[in-house]
Amino acid sequence: MANKNAPLFYEIIEQRRSTRKFEPGRKVSKAAINRIIECGRWAPSGANVQCWDFIVVNEPNMIKKVTEVFLRQAQRLVDHAKGFPAVKKTYLANTVAIVIVLGDPRWKVCFPQSTNDEWVEEYTDNNEAIFLCSLGAAIQNIQLGVTAEGLTSSWLSGGGESTTNKELSKLLNYPDWMTAYGTIPIGYPIASQDRRYRRPLEQLIHWNGYNSLKYRKNSQIDFYESTLRPFAMYRDNELMTDWKDMNEKLGVWAEAFTGKETNPSGKLEPKADFSKPRAIGPATKRRKKDL
Ligand SMILES: Cc1cc2nc3c(=O)[nH]c(=O)nc-3n(C[C@H](O)[C@H](O)[C@H](O)COP(=O)(O)O)c2cc1C
Repeated sequence: MANKNAPLFYEIIEQRRSTRKFEPGRKVSKAAINRIIECGRWAPSGANVQCWDFIVVNEPNMIKKVTEVFLRQAQRLVDHAKGFPAVKKTYLANTVAIVIVLGDPRWKVCFPQSTNDEWVEEYTDNNEAIFLCSLGAAIQNIQLGVTAEGLTSSWLSGGGESTTNKELSKLLNYPDWMTAYGTIPIGYPIASQDRRYRRPLEQLIHWNGYNSLKYRKNSQIDFYESTLRPFAMYRDNELMTDWKDMNEKLGVWAEAFTGKETNPSGKLEPKADFSKPRAIGPATKRRKKDL
């Protein structure tokens, strides 16, 4: 192996998990939090703009207030985004700290700007992608730092929803035109959650060009959204073949989710409209009244 630290690095990558249950009554040192934030500081960003700020909430009273914001956010999901298998956010009360990753949109001006009317849309889209990817890199680095400290976290995107962001900006005193793209509750895991479903490597690696045998059909996405999603999100197995009820859960989709190829015919489909859920399944039942 080229680098002697590589095995440790791979271990941290695989150990990083979204954990939504923490041991109550624990504390963590400021030094550990500083090391975690260092990881965010070293993330890459477009044009090295570092378009982020990290708010660390570690006072019990403030943790309580942030938890209340997210309980309201979770209730809005239950009321207005039915069918998504969200979990209750009461566990935030047991965090040792909550890191809020703010994105400062002014820095987008430092990314490539169109000098010609026809190219405005092209570069605006590009600026947005660079901005969000930079913030994603910082959030990911922080999550990895959390893992390296023997702690665990999750990645809450709900702070970025406008209603929630307004509440957070008021509570934490940041300008409301900045956005909390990532909220990272940190704690000690109540039980080890080692693994989570991942597509087999052979399914997603394409050598020297896109291999259409590995294309995932529209209907496979529909099945995941309508039926499979909660199990893929929350079960502690990397491989669906380890699920005792795999056949019952996957049915005709077993090969597509567990084999090397997802599309034996190699035929691609024209672009389809995925702006709304399209299939009937257990998720649909939960939102049926609103459809
Ligand atoms: C951009 C992004 C947004 C996410 N938003 C949430 C969220 O709001 N709430 C949550 O509990 N998990 C959230 N997650 C965590 C994912 O559900 C989780 O990463 C995925 O199910 C895989 O599990 P793992 O992180 O344990 O490997 C988010 C992850 C990402 C990358």
